[in-house]
This record gives sequence, structure tokens and C-alpha cells, in this order.
Amino acid sequence: MKVIAISNHKGGCGKSVTALNIAVTLAQTGSRVLVVDLDFQGNLSAALGVDLGELETTKKTSHRLLIDERADYSTYLIECRPRLDILPACLDAEAETLLDGQVISKELLLKQKLVVAQKQYDYCVIDTPPALRVPTLNALAVSDLTIVPIESSVFALLGLNQLLRIIAKIRKIYSPNMIIMALSTMFASRQHLDKDVRTQVLNKFTEDFVFQTTIPRAVAVGEATITRQAVVETEPESAVSFSFHKLVSEIKGVLGDGEERSQANARVTI
Ligand SMILES: Nc1ncnc2c1ncn2[C@@H]1O[C@H](COP(=O)(O)OP(=O)(O)OP(=O)(O)O)[C@@H](O)[C@H]1O
Ligand SMILES: [Mg+2]
Repeated sequence: MKVIAISNHKGGCGKSVTALNIAVTLAQTGSRVLVVDLDFQGNLSAALGVDLGELETTKKTSHRLLIDERADYSTYLIECRPRLDILPACLDAEAETLLDGQVISKELLLKQKLVVAQKQYDYCVIDTPPALRVPTLNALAVSDLTIVPIESSVFALLGLNQLLRIIAKIRKIYSPNMIIMALSTMFASRQHLDKDVRTQVLNKFTEDFVFQTTIPRAVAVGEATITRQAVVETEPESAVSFSFHKLVSEIKGVLGDGEERSQANARVTI
């Protein structure tokens, strides 16, 4: 199982939409996919059709799994599409406090829980909250590929150095072969600002570690969420769906390249 974490402490940069469309595309094209929603907002869970109200009652969430020492991940799973299962999330202030209070290796809780899932799935796609706290550290510690979505906005690059330093630290300790790559989201190639931001991202990450695919802004993305689907399901022939398919091909290439690529990638975060 290859683990793909989607992470950026900046809110609203397209993490959940990216995770959703990557996961659904992988499952549609025959892979067995485990989605882990580590964001208490539960956006990805809702987008995949999970009833958040019911989840608040059952408390069968990814966060509760992490703090339940004896629990097996499979008892927290919800099947949401053919070949696509989710460990969902919802608002749970108590679980958040309990996670913060864990004393031993609190960033390795997810890694330990997923050991038994290794053979059940081809890919695990993890959505993280807009914060660099325990859930995000857990995602990074188990990640083979960390995708940093970067929205084309004036503030998109603020704090990026700090984010990269933290990812690099986690990689050094727990996940030495992790590859970190930037993805331009909500991108309009004709806008000067968008092009400027992308140029800066290319300078920062180097060309090898920025996905060539850019994800365009499209109204259909938000419309799909209303119907609890991914845009690759509602508008499979659209330009934005084509981009997500292209992105998934790139991801498969990156994950197939192995150690050489991850060694070169270390330079990005120095
Ligand atoms: N390609 C796109 N085209 C149009 N709208 C988009 C696109 N990608 C994301 N959005 C919209 O932008 C908003 C933020 O996207 P999303 O929820 O994926 O960001 P996020 O990084 O997960 O946010 P948060 O940090 O709050 O978890 C949503 O309303 C989503 O529908
Ligand atoms: Mg989100």
C-alpha cells in the first residue's frame, strides 16, 4: 500500500477536493483505496456521503481509532464506493484533546493502526486539517508521497518554509523515503497572479517536485460536493476531471520511481 498525504496548514487551498478526486479516480480505475479523513471538519467524509450527524453519535471516527489502543481499523471503516473505504471524521473536541494528550509516540498512532491494512489496499489517501498538529503529524509520519496543494493567491506562499521544515523533520525521523510535491490548485493559466505564484512554487520546489498537472478552477467542483460526489463522477468529461486523471497518472509515476527520486527530493526542504 502506498500512502498519499495531502497537507497544507493553509485553509481552503483545495486539500479535501484533491484528496476526494484522487481517491475516487484511483478506485474507478481498479485500485483498492483506503481514505483516512483526519480533519475534524469532516469535509471529505461528507463529500463521500458519510452522515456526519450519525457519526457524531457513533463516534466511529479516525481520531477515536487513534486513541483506542485495542481497536482494529477495520471496525471503524465505512464502505462508500466500490473498492473505496473511509475512516471518517467529524467534530469531536474531546477526541482532539485526548489526541493532544497522548504521551508516547503520538505521531505514530496512525502508522501503527495501518500496519494490518497494508495488504488490503493499493493506496491510502489521507486528508489533513489546516493545522500542523497531531493529526497532520500522523499523516506525514506514514506518508510515501506528501502533496502540498498551493492555491494561486497572494497569501499562498506565506508560511510555506515553516511547513516544509516540519515535513522535513518528520521525514528524517519516520519516513525517510517520503517524496514531497507541490500541486497548483484553482489555477488559471491566463491570470498573471496565478502564473507568478506558480513560478515561485517552481523556484522553491524545483521543477521535478511540482506536478506538471495544474487543477483549474471550475464551478462543477463545488456543485459535485452538493450531491456528495466528486467532480470526476458528476462531470467525467470536463477539463477539471481530465486534470485529476492526469494528476493520478503523474502520482503513479512518482510513486514508481523509488529511492532515487526521494533522495533528490531531500534538497527541496533543506
Ligand atoms: N478546482 C476547484 N475549482 C473550484 N472550486 C474549488 C476547486 N478546488 C476547491 N474548490 C473550492 O474551494 C473551497 C476549498 O476547497 P477545499 O475544501 O478542498 O480546501 P481545503 O484545503 O480542504 O480547506 P480546509 O483547509 O478548510 O480543509 C471549497 O469550497 C471547494 O469547493
Ligand atoms: Mg479540507
